[in-house]
Amino acid sequence: MDWLKSVVEWVIAAFMQSLPIISYVIGPLIAAVSFYFNRKDRRELMAQAEALGRLKEEVRGSQMQLEEKDQALKGAIASNDLRSRQIEKLDRDLRQVTTGASELWKLKSNRPFVRYREWAHDPKGARVLTVGNLKGGVGKTTLAANLAAYISEKRQLPVLLVDLDYQGSLSNMALLSAGKEETESRVNRLFEPGASLATVVAQEVHLAPKLNRGWIVPASYPLAQLENELLLRWITDGDDVVDARYRLAHLFLDPDVRRKYAAIIFDMPPRLTMSSINALVASHHIVVPTVLDKLSGEAVAQFLTLVKVLKEEMNLSIDLAGIVGMLTRTEQLSGIESDIFNSLRDSGEIWREGVDFRFERTIPRRVAVARAAGEEFAWLLSGQDGEAFRQVFAPLAEQICARIKLDEWR
Ligand SMILES: Nc1ncnc2c1ncn2[C@@H]1O[C@H](COP(=O)(O)OP(=O)(O)O)[C@@H](O)[C@H]1O
Ligand SMILES: [Mg+2]
Repeated sequence: MDWLKSVVEWVIAAFMQSLPIISYVIGPLIAAVSFYFNRKDRRELMAQAEALGRLKEEVRGSQMQLEEKDQALKGAIASNDLRSRQIEKLDRDLRQVTTGASELWKLKSNRPFVRYREWAHDPKGARVLTVGNLKGGVGKTTLAANLAAYISEKRQLPVLLVDLDYQGSLSNMALLSAGKEETESRVNRLFEPGASLATVVAQEVHLAPKLNRGWIVPASYPLAQLENELLLRWITDGDDVVDARYRLAHLFLDPDVRRKYAAIIFDMPPRLTMSSINALVASHHIVVPTVLDKLSGEAVAQFLTLVKVLKEEMNLSIDLAGIVGMLTRTEQLSGIESDIFNSLRDSGEIWREGVDFRFERTIPRRVAVARAAGEEFAWLLSGQDGEAFRQVFAPLAEQICARIKLDEWR
């Protein structure tokens, strides 16, 4: 077995001899391989780190965008809040101004146009009359319409109706009666500062053949918009050539316009709007219709107080023509109606002590009048119904015309 031992010894010796070669070759090989794998890992790691960085960047970017959007949203909410607060305030102011009448003319000092008083006191030309009451459904429109019918048809004098209620019930009735179609709120043009006789002539509608000497300037919903615009402009800037409260006075008290008619009648809305103020400022007289129930009786006292303060504060020429009891149950007043009618004497004394401003003649509710409402002047109804209405209405119309001195018209 010696040969085996010598073979083993030879192999060991050969191995020992080749060890340095192995270490020279294998060592760097292993190093190179591990270097390669190391670099590959690092590249991957770096790529992953880069991707991570990019992701982080993206997240930061979206976060910033979110914050910006949040900021913008907060800003929008704040400005929205501010705007709605402004709107609320404006709305409150407007409501205060329109309902708390005492505030309206105090908001700005009185600015009548130079010739206001001179024109108002000119005895020549139309008597300008407002039919007014802040309560609705008391017969204002019915009284205005039939008074015009009486003046045109019975007295044969030229009369102009001006509808100042955007609900347009006077316009609808009068135009329907005369067979004229109209949808435009023609009255709007009368509020332009430069309005003149030519404007009235262009905007009025002749009511012939129903009222041969009757004209109307109709109103509809656009009037409401104009009133708000006028009020807002007047409150916010306006030192207009003609103060917004004096527009109708400037137009209708103009001698050229007044001489065209014997009477100009404003049908007032049951609200204290810019139109109502204009009517009161432009009128020589006001007639106040009322129904004869307790609340309406009190409303007359309140309304007269308001008009009186307005007259004093703005130095207006308006005077009370009288108070009319309308829509009574029958021609003879009932017990309650009589009591209310009596109390109206006191209401009238708010205007001037010691004077009874009630018109003796009251107007009863009539089925035929109610039925004709909306399409015909009660004054023009045919047959017995018309006859009966004219019989009760004529004495009242006469009394009103006497109070506004229509007979002195020239
Ligand atoms: N004498 C009357 N008989 C019957 N109905 C009437 C009479 N007078 C007015 N009316 C009706 O009463 C309602 C209110 O009258 P209206 O003149 O429109 O009041 P206002 O203008 O004050 O709101 C209307 O429907 C009208 O037709
Ligand atoms: Mg009315």
